Order: sequence, then C-alpha cells, then structure tokens
Amino acid sequence: MRSAVFAAFVFCALTIAPTGSSEILVIFPTTAQSHYRVVRPLIHRLLDRGHKILAITNFPDAVERANLSQIDIAGLKPHSKFKTSNNGIMKSITRVIGNANTYATILSHPTVAKLLQSGRKFDLVLAEFFTSTPIFAPIATVVDAPIVGFCPMITFPWINDVMGMDTTMSYMPNILSDSSDRMSFFQRISNIVKTAIIYIAFNWIYTPIIRQINNHHYGIQTESAIKSMANLSMIMTNNYHSMFLPFPQLPGIVEVGGIHVVDEKPIPQDLNDFINNADRGVILFSLGTVVSEESLSADKLYNILDAFSKVKQRVIMKFDSEKYKIQLPVNVKMVKWFPQRDLLAHPKVLLFISHAGMMSVIETIHCGKPMVAIPIFGDQMFNTNLLVGKQVAVAIEYKHLDSDHLFNAINEALAEKYAINMKKLQQLYNDRPQSPLETAVYWTEYVIRNKNKSKELLKSQKVHLNLYQSNLIDIFAAFLLPLIVVIYFIQWKMKHILYNGQ
Ligand SMILES: *[C@@H]1O[C@H](CO)[C@@H](O)[C@H](O)[C@H]1NC(C)=O
Ligand SMILES: *[C@@H]1O[C@H](CO)[C@@H](O)[C@H](O)[C@H]1NC(C)=O
Ligand SMILES: *[C@@H]1O[C@H](CO)[C@@H](O)[C@H](O)[C@H]1NC(C)=O
Repeated sequence: MRSAVFAAFVFCALTIAPTGSSEILVIFPTTAQSHYRVVRPLIHRLLDRGHKILAITNFPDAVERANLSQIDIAGLKPHSKFKTSNNGIMKSITRVIGNANTYATILSHPTVAKLLQSGRKFDLVLAEFFTSTPIFAPIATVVDAPIVGFCPMITFPWINDVMGMDTTMSYMPNILSDSSDRMSFFQRISNIVKTAIIYIAFNWIYTPIIRQINNHHYGIQTESAIKSMANLSMIMTNNYHSMFLPFPQLPGIVEVGGIHVVDEKPIPQDLNDFINNADRGVILFSLGTVVSEESLSADKLYNILDAFSKVKQRVIMKFDSEKYKIQLPVNVKMVKWFPQRDLLAHPKVLLFISHAGMMSVIETIHCGKPMVAIPIFGDQMFNTNLLVGKQVAVAIEYKHLDSDHLFNAINEALAEKYAINMKKLQQLYNDRPQSPLETAVYWTEYVIRNKNKSKELLKSQKVHLNLYQSNLIDIFAAFLLPLIVVIYFIQWKMKHILYNGQ
C-alpha cells in the first residue's frame, strides 16, 4: 500500500514539470480597492513560489518585497463613487461606456507606455476581468504571453462567451437580475430582457469604442468587444457554487470565491474594548468602499441611528462624512474605516448590516454571521436575493429604509434560525478539495506550464462557431428544407389534381 502511494507520488512528481520562476505581468486597472483585494493574496503566493511580478495597479503595496515591482497608476480615477439612489441598469451601462476612454489613459501613462514599447517579454499576463478588459487584453500579444482573467464578481454575462459556454436563460439568472435560479414565468421574461440589454450594450454600443481604442493603442483591428478577449486562456471568478448557484462550468472558468479572505489579525484596541464591554453582543454596519456615504440623506441617517438607539446590542458603524453634525446614541460607535473581516470573526459580533457587495457577502459567509442587506447598485440586488433565498439574510429596499423597517429587520435577522442557516452555509463554503488560493495558484501555473496550447485547452469549440452553427440552425435548415419542398410539391400536386378533376 505504502509503496503504491509512493509510486503514485513519484509518478505525479515526474509528470507535472515544475513551473520554475516565471515573469508575470499583473494588470488590475480597477479604482475599487475591494477589487484589488481579490488578487493581492494570489500575487503574494506566486511570489512565495519564486515567480517575479510586475503589477500595474492603483493600490500598490506599501511594503516593498523582493521580485515584486509595481507601476502606480493612482491618480487615474475614472470612478466617482456610487450614489445611494438612481442606479438602474441603464445608468450602470452608461457608466461602463463612459469609463472606457478614461481607462484607456492608463495605456498612455508614461511608465506603462514605455513598458509596452520596450519589447520586454513575460510568461503570463494576469488581468482584471471587468468591463475594461477588452482594452487591456491585447497587451498579452505585445509581451508575447498567455493571458488569464480574474473576475472580482460571481460572474459576468460575457464570461461564458469568451470561454465558449452556453448561457441558458431559463435557469441562469443574469447578474443584474432580481431572481434566483428558480424563476417564475415573468422572472424569466425579465431575465431575458436584461440579458439582451447587456448584450446589445456590450456588443453594439461598447464595440466601436473598444475598436477605436485598440486600433489607436495597439494598431490592431478588433471585430467586437467580446472577440478582443478571445486570447484569454482562463478566467478565475470570485464564485463558489455552494455559496451561490451551481451552474454548468467549463474547465476554463475556475471558481476561487473566498480567495480575498486573508488570515485574521488582532482588532485595534479601542474597537476591541468597545466589543468586549458589550454584554448583549455587537452589530456591524457598513456600506462598503464604493458607495458614497455623503450621498446618504440626513433623514436616512437619522432613521438609521434612531433604529440603532432602540436595539440592545452595541453598534459599530463605518461611516465617513464631515457633512453632518451627528449626535450618536450611547450604544453606537462611528468610525471612518474598520477591519471588517477581523470584526466579523469576533464571537461577540452577531450581525452585519451591509450593502451586500460581493466581498462583504463572502466575508460574512466565511465568518458565519447573518446579514441585514440593503442593496444599492450593480450585483448587490442579485447577491441579496441569493442570501434571502437561503434564509441567511433579511433584505430592506433602500427606498424603504426607515427606523421601523430597520429595527424590525435587525430583530428578525437576530432570530436563531438565521444564525443556524448561516453556520450550515459556512460549512458548505469550507467543504472543498483545495483552498481558493491553492486552486488559483494551481491553474495559474497550469497556464504557464502549458503556455503554447493554453489558448485552446480549457475552452469549448463554441468559440469558433458562429451564431447559426452553435444553435444548429444550419442543421435544422438542412433537414427542414427538403421537407418543406416536399410539402409544397404535394400541395401543388393536390391542387393540380383537384382542378383537373373538376
Ligand atoms: C527572486 O527570484 C529569483 C528567481 O528569479 C529567486 O531565485 C529568488 O529566490 C527570489 N527572491 C525571493 C526573495 O523570493
Ligand atoms: C490574439 O493573439 C494573436 C496571436 O498572438 C494575435 O495576432 C491577435 O492580435 C490577438 N488578438 C487580440 C485581440 O489581442
Ligand atoms: C513552445 O513554443 C516555442 C516556440 O514555438 C518552443 O520553442 C517551445 O519549445 C514550446 N514549448 C513547449 C513546452 O512545447
């Protein structure tokens, strides 16, 4: 037995060639700090494994590390923060389109431009897979490397297209939809309409902008926004099926949900004292880093604080606004920032009131705490629905956010049922063959090892078929056409016989 295990081990060791030290270019143009947090642990683990990394980022590490160089593009800030209201699907799309040209300025950043002209080669490009990916994907050709995408969200509508996977709208809800995978008739209609709007916007409105940018910066002619990402070998997503939804997957779509959750650190003294002196437990409140807290009206803030003044727990509130002179209830502590992941892990923290952004949702599941969700834009509605469906969260619509609603939601979410369900979900989230970070490292190095073939290895052939081929319309046509001809012939013959018979 032992020798068999040993033989198997030797066999594996021989067949999987070591990856050695590779040069990796990381492009994470995002201006949302929470997005960069998903890739940072991967960067550091790859450094641990002897790779050399050059990262183009808005959030360079403060502490220097051997073999890590960074190009700081801070100052290029295309995103204004999101307001707390008026964030419909059209608004999101307009925003994306408006951002493309601003993101393109990164390509003219002196250090980035110099790098692209230097002729320097890399072994891999690791790029944020978000709305700006079509304009950064061609860099892979410039530096002669395979390219891997990293999506900080559960999914994006065009991930499937890039990897050659079918999107079945009857049970795969769009990220901007407001239903789970069990859709009613009208929810399916809504899902189809929203998916169609996104496709139209991405393929027809975004494409000309992308085409112009790519032509200008790389001198390449791209067919469409989707096609400009055709060289991607693999995409990692911040998803894990037991947390969210089980979908059919291709090997090229690798789920690494939870990768951003790093080990716990000690909580700062003042927060620690505040928590330890709370006899009835603590509730956390945060709207994340991308929503503008300034845009919360005085009335909403008053209502939130009024609800907090009625609960028995202590409340720590992340809120950064100089705008209001606030009289805080005695049980509330307000801070401009808090170490969310570490606070959530504290046994005295009972509940998280959150905007249900992706990273916050995952951290909450990781720590097994129920949630009161107040979704505001983008995928937050979607995330909230999934959590409510699993009965681990209570939702409040932002427009209905007032003292009574919030107070009732808090009390409901503190019921034992939610804590029990969340513990079960936490256990499912942890039950996997490899940690998300190990999974990400394995597949990243897999692409490096199989560099020459990687563009085809993990995708389906659908990427090479056009619309009528992949939907078998040509086959139907080939079979139906003779049938139609025969039917017409018989009809014609019948008429002929009938008329002649008269
Ligand atoms: C930096 O990379 C080289 C390989 O290129 C490796 O030999 C060295 O150990 C790395 N340094 C550190 C501190 O990891
Ligand atoms: C994809 O790769 C091929 C071969 O390296 C290159 O000719 C082509 O321009 C690339 N396409 C894009 C959109 O980067
Ligand atoms: C990949 O291709 C290059 C050039 O075409 C070749 O030199 C190299 O040996 C190939 N590597 C592998 C692992 O096949």
